[in-house]
Amino acid sequence: MSADALLEMLEMDEIYSEAARVLLEHPPFIVLTGAGMSVESGLPPFRGPGGIWERFDPEEYGHIDTFRKDPERAWVLLGEMLSGTLSFSPNEGHRVIARLEEKGLAGPVVTQNIDGYHGIAGSRDVLEIHGNIRNIICPSCGRTEYISSRLPDDWSVKCSCGSYRRPDIVLFGEPLKEGAISRAWEAASSGMDMLIVGTSGIVMPASQLPFLVRASGGSIVEINPHDSTFSNTISDVFIRERAVKGLTMLEGFLEDRSHGSPRGFK
Ligand code: APR
Ligand code: ZN
Repeated sequence: MSADALLEMLEMDEIYSEAARVLLEHPPFIVLTGAGMSVESGLPPFRGPGGIWERFDPEEYGHIDTFRKDPERAWVLLGEMLSGTLSFSPNEGHRVIARLEEKGLAGPVVTQNIDGYHGIAGSRDVLEIHGNIRNIICPSCGRTEYISSRLPDDWSVKCSCGSYRRPDIVLFGEPLKEGAISRAWEAASSGMDMLIVGTSGIVMPASQLPFLVRASGGSIVEINPHDSTFSNTISDVFIRERAVKGLTMLEGFLEDRSHGSPRGFK
C-alpha cells in the first residue's frame, strides 16, 4: 500500500472513529435520509448527474395542478418512479440502519424517500414525510391499494369509479404528511443527535431538521459522496462516502466502540 493510501486510510479511520464517538454519546440518534440512500439500489437521485429533474421539470410533472388538469401527464413521471421502485430493492445501507435500530442505537428514520425501502429492510420507526409511492389512493372514492412487489395484471391508473388514482405521496404544491413531519420536528428539537445519509439538503422542511438538531444541542454526522447544504456548515463529522460503504464501515466502528474496543489507531 502506498504511503498516500495508508495516510488516507488512517484519516478515514479517524473520521469513522469520531463519528462513532459522537453517535454513541447519547443514543438513540435520528436518521435522516434522502434519495442518495437508494442510489445503490438502482434508483436515480433527483438532482446531480443522472437526476430525475434533469429529464422532468418538477414544477410541470410533479405538481398537484398537473395531476388535477392532466393526470395522464402526471402519470408519465409517477409511472416511471413507481416501476423503478418496484424493479429494485433495499440495499445493505438500509439493512444497516434497521440493525442499528434493533440495537437501540438508531431512533426514528425520517426519510424524504417514497420507495418504502427502509420499512422493507426492517426499520420499524420510519417517518415517510413525503409519503410512499406504493400506496395508491383514489381521491374520489377513497379506494386504496398497496403495491408490494409488482403491478397487478389488471393494473390501471383509473379507479373502478372512473376517477384517476394517484400514489399517496406529497406532490409539489401540497402540504406534507402532518403526523410524520410533526414527529420528526419533535425528535429534532429533543436534543437527539442525527445521522444524515444521502440528501442534498435543499428541500424544506426536511432541510431544516438538521439545523433544529444543532440548535437543540444535538450533533450531526453526515454520509454523502458530495458536499450538501450541511457538509461545510453544521455537520460535526462528514464522511465523504457512498451510503452502503459509509454505513457498513460506521456500523463496524459503532460495534467496536460500544464493546469497549474502539477501532482505529487512537
Ligand atoms: N450514497 C449516498 N449519497 C449519495 C449517493 C450514494 N451512493 N449518490 C448520490 N448521493 C447524494 C448526492 O450527493 C445528493 O446530495 O444524494 C443526494 C441526492 O440529493 P437529491 O437528489 O436532491 O435528493 P434529496 O435530497 O432526497 O431531495 C429531497 O427533493 O425533489 C424533492 O421530493 C423530492 O424527496 C425529494 C426532495
Ligand atoms: Zn375511485
